[in-house]
Amino acid sequence: MKSISHDSILLAPSLLAGKHDAFNESLKIAESANVQWVHLDIMDGHFVPNISFGASTVQSLRKHSDLFFDVHLMLSNPNQHIDSFIDSGADLITIHVEPEYPITETIKRIKNAKCKAGIALNPSTDVSKLTPYLDLCDLVLIMSVEPGFGGQSFIVDSLKKIHQISEIKAKEGYSFRIEVDGGITLENAPACIKHGADTLVCGTSFFTSNDTVQFTKDIESIKKE
Ligand code: DX5
Ligand code: ZN
Repeated sequence: MKSISHDSILLAPSLLAGKHDAFNESLKIAESANVQWVHLDIMDGHFVPNISFGASTVQSLRKHSDLFFDVHLMLSNPNQHIDSFIDSGADLITIHVEPEYPITETIKRIKNAKCKAGIALNPSTDVSKLTPYLDLCDLVLIMSVEPGFGGQSFIVDSLKKIHQISEIKAKEGYSFRIEVDGGITLENAPACIKHGADTLVCGTSFFTSNDTVQFTKDIESIKKE
């Protein structure tokens, strides 16, 4: 099992903004930019109004890369599909708190398989919904756009949620990472980090950057204070 660092700021480029006819090339672009993580968005066309790709694609990509695979499941019933994503070679699997399914059981299945587990929150969902799962999770993902599509604008109110979860983390002594996902750019990244995020998903801003090496350096060198 790959370990998760707890101090550094990490950039996780989202392949959703990469080339869908050649994900492997996008993966190489991310590797060449010296990132440690790559973010894989799985959409079922039900929990979110879009379909992306499935576990077989993750499994194929696994053969080409040793990057940390941060798999974000936007599914109505993650419990039903969890085994195939564990088997795909995911390093971390994040599930959403909104749908009705056995969340604790699903997190435990992920952890029992020696995979890291994350819990995700939509913009309209209250942070308090996460409470029962926080001591089980390695990562909390705050959505800063409505999930389903890349290329949307950052919802500024998400900063409050990042701050809230960061305060809970400090108060309770949790060690989960705080990831923010959606509409992140070099302009709004400093505010996300200032409010407590340590893991930034960038799709469009990363893959449209002229210099992905510099982009990665710029994001990962942002100071917390
Ligand atoms: C949205 C996804 C995000 C998205 C990020 O549902 O979870 O990961 O692809 O892409 P950008 O950075 O383009 O908003
Ligand atoms: Zn995502």
